[in-house]
Amino acid sequence: MKLLASEHALVFDYIYSISAIVLEAGKDYLVEGRLSALAETSGCASFEELIRKAKADASGVLKRKIIDGITTGETLFFRDTSPFDLLRHKLIPELIDRQARSSLKPPIRIWSAACSTGQELYSIAILLRGMLGDPHRYNIRLTGTDLSDEAVARASAGYYNSIEMGRGLSDVLRAQNFTADTKGWKIRDELRALTSFRRLNLMEDFTSMGKFDIIFCRNVAIYFNEKDKASLFQRLSQRLEPHGSLIIGSMENLGTSCPQLESNRHLRAVYYKLLQGKAQAA
Ligand SMILES: C[S@@+](CC[C@H](N)C(=O)[O-])C[C@H]1O[C@@H](n2cnc3c(N)ncnc32)[C@H](O)[C@@H]1O
Repeated sequence: MKLLASEHALVFDYIYSISAIVLEAGKDYLVEGRLSALAETSGCASFEELIRKAKADASGVLKRKIIDGITTGETLFFRDTSPFDLLRHKLIPELIDRQARSSLKPPIRIWSAACSTGQELYSIAILLRGMLGDPHRYNIRLTGTDLSDEAVARASAGYYNSIEMGRGLSDVLRAQNFTADTKGWKIRDELRALTSFRRLNLMEDFTSMGKFDIIFCRNVAIYFNEKDKASLFQRLSQRLEPHGSLIIGSMENLGTSCPQLESNRHLRAVYYKLLQGKAQAA
């Protein structure tokens, strides 16, 4: 189905309003490639009709299908490697030293914001189990959120096909952390039990998420405009414990949008911490 010039504003504005994703001129092929089948199966003769139907659909089902179609869920296990080296060699050892001083069961709370199909959060779970042995000695809370229902459902199921398994996992990690059945490779139950996934639009208020020791928010703000990006990183900084760390994508930077965060470097990894005295109240 062709996206007509007269439909651009309606379609792009609607997509922005439900996801904050900015589509500009020249991105017609994305809409055509990703939403044509949905428009046709929804009985719509044009994209304009699809958007009108979605707006009128009080159940929100069509809106969520548009989100599933338009979002880019590209991800892989241990993506970019360096953030996971950072966790292994610096952030987790420092966190445990610190938490063990005040708690018999040290809390480790990590949020994968825009987790897509779960590979990022499961990579963290795999790494923690490899480092810490029995996870029950710690109070581990690993939370994954994403805007797309389809992505969250896949992440929760924890099943991956052989192509996904071949992206970022060694044979040893695969054998240690997954079991094979007729549906594919499934993350082991003891790792799955450390995690929880839910739908969350990062443009909406997320103060109810509580505070985290480490937040991963990678490769999602690249789809947002500068104002929304700044608002997102501001609000994420308010979800960090005073000692917490924010990890963003390897091709991203905060610019000047978040003066309360300072950048730190460990080997090849860059991460952000609250400037002393600027930890904000919930
Ligand atoms: C490219 S994936 C990144 C996955 C993972 N963080 C990584 O770096 O491998 C981007 C994800 O952002 C999600 N997303 C897009 N807009 C969002 C929004 N407004 N709120 C929450 N998630 C969003 C998409 O559904 C998609 O799963």
